[in-house]
Amino acid sequence: MIKAGIIGGSGYTGGELIRILLNHLETEIDFVYSTTRAGKKITTAHPDLLGLTTIAFTGTVNLKVDVVFLCLGHGNSTKFLKENKFSSDTKIIDLSNDFRLHADAILEGKEFVYGLPETNKEKIKSANYIANPGCFATAIQLALLPLAKAGLLKKEIHINAVTGSTGAGVSPSDTTHFSWRNNNVSWYKPFTHQHLGEVGESLASFNTPVGELLFLPTRGNFPRGILATAYTVFDGELDEVIALYKDFYKNALFTQVADEEIHLKQVVNTNQCHIHLHKHNNRLLITSAIDNLLKGASGQAVQNMNLMFGLEERSGLNLKAAAF
Ligand SMILES: NC(=O)c1ccc[n+]([C@@H]2O[C@H](COP(=O)([O-])OP(=O)(O)OC[C@H]3O[C@@H](n4cnc5c(N)ncnc54)[C@H](OP(=O)(O)O)[C@@H]3O)[C@@H](O)[C@H]2O)c1
Repeated sequence: MIKAGIIGGSGYTGGELIRILLNHLETEIDFVYSTTRAGKKITTAHPDLLGLTTIAFTGTVNLKVDVVFLCLGHGNSTKFLKENKFSSDTKIIDLSNDFRLHADAILEGKEFVYGLPETNKEKIKSANYIANPGCFATAIQLALLPLAKAGLLKKEIHINAVTGSTGAGVSPSDTTHFSWRNNNVSWYKPFTHQHLGEVGESLASFNTPVGELLFLPTRGNFPRGILATAYTVFDGELDEVIALYKDFYKNALFTQVADEEIHLKQVVNTNQCHIHLHKHNNRLLITSAIDNLLKGASGQAVQNMNLMFGLEERSGLNLKAAAF
């Protein structure tokens, strides 16, 4: 059994990791570290796990664990790893954006591999350290990577993506307060969202010209999921571009190209990304949908763990959407 540790286990992505790992046949949870709840039962933070586990949060870390997941806010992963020196045998999967960009990928000799299995599977298999992609970044990259590879992203790309409130973490804030968020919609960080950096680096990896990415993130009044739309100038045939996407993702177990129009609920509670293509005049519209906490975070983290340990990629991740 692979022994796993979770740091930041009382948060949203930590809770999802506990849920997945409790049902993963090849792993066992060694510890769930918390700065605020040491000694208290996991179910004090995650009452949905009642009956599934009796373990308690710890205030100490097993530095020899086989794999550790860091579910911490940006900047805190770097700090935590500097203060806690894990064994060189411990694999580390970080969910923050501390190590995602090329310029940030090395910490004290540890080289973090960008954990998007759709493009980086072979590197992930031999990696010891993973920078798990961001949630918006996952939805947007999976929508655009086939076009970038084919050199079809030369013109500017307009991207909209609406996210559920869990994307902002467990701590209440002005824009996650129920009275504000419910029955409400608003955009934020127009054209400057931090995930543009990692998206840009991935798209640039094919060495084809990539037009400007104009990204407008939107807060939705639902808890989970991201629905992203992107459109750009496209003069080719729809059939051809659908075939291009299906070929690009032919070995991707968690990314599906849908013939029918897609909606958010068909992926919520799963590790799937569903993609749909539509053409209008000379514009191509690409829609992608993911669960921000699964394919956008903890599900993809477990997918990466499975690859790193030579396990079946789907282990623990055969989740069905609650589509109604
Ligand atoms: N939410 C998403 O949809 C999503 C998607 C992709 C990536 N991410 C990224 O994943 C990371 C975790 O996100 P989240 O939504 O799970 O956040 P969260 O709900 O805010 O949970 C983070 C947890 O980290 C712990 N913590 C806070 N400060 C700490 C410190 N200085 N040292 C150690 N632990 C500390 C806290 O737990 P204790 O009080 O128990 O210590 C807190 O509950 C973030 O970097 C986020 O950007 C999130």
